[in-house]
Amino acid sequence: MKIRVLGSAAGGGFPQWNCNCRNCSGLRNAALHATPRTQSSIAVCGTDARAWALVNASPDILAQLKSSPVLQPARAPRDTAIAAVVLVDGQVDHTTGLFMLRESTRPLPVWCTQNVHADLTRGNPIFGVLGHYCGIEHHPMRIDGEGFEVAGVAGVQWRAVAVASKPAPYSPHRERPQPGDNVALVIREPQHGRSVVYAPGLGSMEAAVWAEMQAAHCVMVDGTFWSDEEMIGMGLSRKRAREIGHLPQSGPGGMLEWLARLPAGTRKILIHVNNTNPILDEDSAERAQLNRLGIEVAYDGMEIEP
Ligand code: MLT
Ligand code: MN
Ligand code: ZN
Repeated sequence: MKIRVLGSAAGGGFPQWNCNCRNCSGLRNAALHATPRTQSSIAVCGTDARAWALVNASPDILAQLKSSPVLQPARAPRDTAIAAVVLVDGQVDHTTGLFMLRESTRPLPVWCTQNVHADLTRGNPIFGVLGHYCGIEHHPMRIDGEGFEVAGVAGVQWRAVAVASKPAPYSPHRERPQPGDNVALVIREPQHGRSVVYAPGLGSMEAAVWAEMQAAHCVMVDGTFWSDEEMIGMGLSRKRAREIGHLPQSGPGGMLEWLARLPAGTRKILIHVNNTNPILDEDSAERAQLNRLGIEVAYDGMEIEP
């Protein structure tokens, strides 16, 4: 099994088009030791190196595909290595790329929960729009612990675990999140029994996802914000990290405290990093702290073979 990080940034990317925070302006002016990042997506392949599951379809997907030649095997006049799409939520940064896949020569197989299917049918009717192009083939993703396999991507087993976060603003229950609005994925290679937990949106650590993280060989988890008040402090938002469904890294009960409790051999990677997060500055004290703790920061093009 191989995982390729297509986009390691949160919604907005890094730099974000209209943002002049220290990180975004520093990156533009080459005054910062940092790397640009596109919006949130990974790709997963099993025993067939030419069949990948796209996990989340980023607004930046076309650029991501251009920089990932492995996803274009060129066996036919129209071809792709993307065998299916798996969605962890219905947010803009994870679904807008579906529009860019509309030239697909067959209905796009999409695995998502009923909640996400509802949001992408009503609040943000991407699935209805795609019906006028390639269409989609919906595969319901269950959150009752039942695993699933993604047709075409052999040698990988999947399980969705409901997590506490926030559905998209166009969800009818944005302020009353329900199980299935956001999931973590347990991605497992049965051949070697190795598993990865991927959870780019994790608002608080509940028992189910924590148990999965403790059993995994690698965790790729919510790296959106360093502090709960990050965006408030910069005058960019009135909302705390937790209020928009992201557990901050620092502070009591923050992600760093949880990661420190994982078994020593677990590979720990922060992903879905917001452009305001000081860990993007590779010379920052916060990044040095991660280095000391053995926590990695995902970057575009990163490959993981757990
Ligand atoms: C989030 O993860 O909170 C959202 O994706 C933010 C956004 O893209 O609007
Ligand atoms: Mn997001
Ligand atoms: Zn910024």
